[in-house]
Amino acid sequence: MDLLFVCLGNICRSPAAEAIMKKKLVELGPRFAGITVDSAGIGPWHEGQLPDSRMRRHGARRGYRIDSIARQIRRDDFTRFDIIFGMDADNMKALSRLARTGEERARLMCAADFMTRHPGYATVPDPYYGGPDGFELALDLIEDACDGIIAMLESRQSPPENR
Ligand code: 4NP
Repeated sequence: MDLLFVCLGNICRSPAAEAIMKKKLVELGPRFAGITVDSAGIGPWHEGQLPDSRMRRHGARRGYRIDSIARQIRRDDFTRFDIIFGMDADNMKALSRLARTGEERARLMCAADFMTRHPGYATVPDPYYGGPDGFELALDLIEDACDGIIAMLESRQSPPENR
């Protein structure tokens, strides 16, 4: 199972989601050892860069090492990854425009749809142009979404008699 997180620039939300999901999966142990996690951006602007220093700093305070190098989403991502998670409605719109077949479109999911502890939020808002609170909120929402995604993966993996 290969998971891809996508946001606009691949320097704030999706590299955070990648780091958070990787850490959670490692902590859950060998059951999830076969799951790979990556991230990408809709746009090319930050390709080759480390994540935004503000997101790196806020994440580090929670024990996450957010250090993947930004890249733009590529055509072969749509066949290589089993699930592609966008972070907000704009990401979802862009992703569905890029998908070429129904099968590719069926791999698209909104990460925010998996949140259970933030009923007031239907999206992970872009923190790039805001202050520190926006980065904390994005991390809160992404942690919530990752827990929900893990619950979904667990229900997919468990044998029928355990469902
Ligand atoms: P991200 O945040 O999509 O969470 O990585 C952004 C980063 C950069 C830009 C926009 C959003 N930008 O316009 O450069």
